[in-house]
Amino acid sequence: MIEYENLSRLNQPFRTELSQAFHDLLVRGRFILDEQVAQFEEEFASYVGCRYCIGVSNGLDALVLALKAFDFPPGKEVLVPSNTYIATILAIIHNQLVPVLVEPNLSTYNIDVQNLEEKLTDQTVAILPVHLYGKLCPMQSIIAFAKEHHLKVIEDCAQAHGASVLGKKAGSFGDINAFSFYPTKNLGALGDGGAITTDDPDLYEKLRKLRNYGSMDKNVHELIGFNHRLDEMQAAFLRIKLKALDQINRHKSKLAKLYLERLSPEFNQPICERGYEDVWHIFPIRHPARDELKSYLKKEGVETLIHYPTPPHRQRALRGKIKEQYFPISDEIHRTILSLPCSYIHSEQEILEVADIANRFVCCPL
Ligand SMILES: Cc1ncc(COP(=O)(O)O)c(C=O)c1O
Repeated sequence: MIEYENLSRLNQPFRTELSQAFHDLLVRGRFILDEQVAQFEEEFASYVGCRYCIGVSNGLDALVLALKAFDFPPGKEVLVPSNTYIATILAIIHNQLVPVLVEPNLSTYNIDVQNLEEKLTDQTVAILPVHLYGKLCPMQSIIAFAKEHHLKVIEDCAQAHGASVLGKKAGSFGDINAFSFYPTKNLGALGDGGAITTDDPDLYEKLRKLRNYGSMDKNVHELIGFNHRLDEMQAAFLRIKLKALDQINRHKSKLAKLYLERLSPEFNQPICERGYEDVWHIFPIRHPARDELKSYLKKEGVETLIHYPTPPHRQRALRGKIKEQYFPISDEIHRTILSLPCSYIHSEQEILEVADIANRFVCCPL
């Protein structure tokens, strides 16, 4: 069986260092906002190429705080891709703002800049691009559009740690940017974790307060804050894994390249653009008989996942929360997409095996 992912095996190369970090922290006995969080923040800011980083509890909370920091009046509108993971949209709703869903480009799966203008109203205050599946959005055009229309930009980098265009990394373009360290992410904690990056010193100070009860000094509360802190244990683990992030990304890229060379052109494959370094959080293909393909692969011993089976506009939770219901591109993606195994745990041999098995589906369909 070729598993889609296995978190025990994924963390196996780091086991000794992780155990030592756990032991050291247990002895030190300081578990909240201490030296590990501070050092991780410094190291992650430097990795991303941003002045500041704020460690937080998870990716959703990172997005909630990012939007909160701007104090947008309730009812204002935020442009967001219609095919994102629902967390991006929930963060907007949790801020009493209105998500305005914008269709993605069917080749890149990222928000289509051509579709932004028609969704703009006098209520629009921000754009929230998502670097889906590990591929950076066209940030130059997005930033230009945002500047022209006086919008804030918040990048959702949950799936794109280390992704870059012309050497500039995800999380260094927007006014405020949000990361998730959910265990399966390219940089994954051993539990929940997240981070925010920014170059703005005022937003940095505000976000540090917002994540910790609105407080910088014990028992002094300046803002209506939250408890959205990253804990010391996860920060210590993340510091170890951050050192290996480029190596993990390189390995995944090597596997993705093998798929791109080997898979039949009958599968709709992800595109690679010049200057872009994608980090392949997911290797997605599309096929009209996706469900049959998934069952066939399972029967042949290959585990796959679907990111995601139901588009946000068809989720019950969003009924009455979004203005429109017609998103044919998003529907098409969700109906046909399939994620093939592409993890640090996989060998090149396994990927070639998956590709050959998948190719037999198109040459001799069920
Ligand atoms: C695009 C995107 N945004 C936000 C999140 C939320 O991150 P978390 O699960 O850490 O809250 C995820 C998590 O899967 C995600 O994929």
